[in-house]
Amino acid sequence: MSRILNIGIATLDIINHLDHYPAEDEELRALVQERRCGGNAANSACVLSQFGHQVSLLCTLADDAAGAQIRRDLQAHGVQTDQIVTLDPAHTPTSCITLNRANGSRTIVHYRDLPELQAGDFPYPQIEQYDWFHFEGRNIEASEPMLRRLSEQRVDQPISIEIEKLRPGIERLYGYADILLFSRAFALQQGYTCANDLFDALRQQGIAAILVCSWAEQGAWACDRHGDRYHQPAFVPEQIVDTLGAGDTFNAGLIHALLEGRSIAPALATACELAGRKVGQTGFAHLNRTESE
Ligand code: ADP
Ligand code: FRU
Repeated sequence: MSRILNIGIATLDIINHLDHYPAEDEELRALVQERRCGGNAANSACVLSQFGHQVSLLCTLADDAAGAQIRRDLQAHGVQTDQIVTLDPAHTPTSCITLNRANGSRTIVHYRDLPELQAGDFPYPQIEQYDWFHFEGRNIEASEPMLRRLSEQRVDQPISIEIEKLRPGIERLYGYADILLFSRAFALQQGYTCANDLFDALRQQGIAAILVCSWAEQGAWACDRHGDRYHQPAFVPEQIVDTLGAGDTFNAGLIHALLEGRSIAPALATACELAGRKVGQTGFAHLNRTESE
């Protein structure tokens, strides 16, 4: 069991399950509606917690009904909520998600007017209590000073940073990471058509971290500190029903495997198996029951 601090966001996901993707201006009924905690850091925390890790989430929430539900959901997943910063008056962010059951696609409309974390919200005096720090790459103006101070004060705990979206100044975070977890969307936004081209560019910029890039149905790629490259094909479930949070699950699987002492290639395999099983089921329940565990 390891102690992990996830830094990022939580949101209320309002998920409408549909049997097809709607046309513009169509009026239709959802098959099912779920309302539950979402957000990359929160989703990864819930999956990591299934593996017996003691996970704390550092994010902001409002003092409203959605914020209270998110806290309850996190606690039900065993995620510690005592680091959460509650803002009032404010509104907890929501994502309205169209989940197409025919192919598992998830279309997300996120709305937030909630202020993000400030650099002073980080629990600096408790750094020694954690074994791993995982950041969502966002909120650069606050994340950069957090990462700078964490890098100075940590003992030797790894820092992973998820780079999911192109945000102004996000490259300023790269140098603080031991592991950078890129998304396919980010690579494509940057003009790279494959993970290895992204890795080449980052190495040319002098980025020394372990590099990982997930690529949906093509699985994931990695580049270790020696420059060795790895590819793990996707684990394909019988049917793809729900891709919401596939990347968050992949990241949790990778962190878990590395915490267990596995090297990059088997860690990629664990992450792809976990994410593949996730896209084959609705939600995140019981993902710890993998065959390789
Ligand atoms: P995100 O959810 O951030 O868009 P990806 O789509 O890259 O992330 O998916 C993350 C991981 O989830 C992939 O590396 C893969 O292992 C798994 N995955 C995603 N989509 C599929 C799919 N259609 N089939 C099998 N595995 C998938
Ligand atoms: C999935 C997710 C959702 C959330 C959205 C936030 O990766 O974390 O749970 O609504 O992305 O961008």
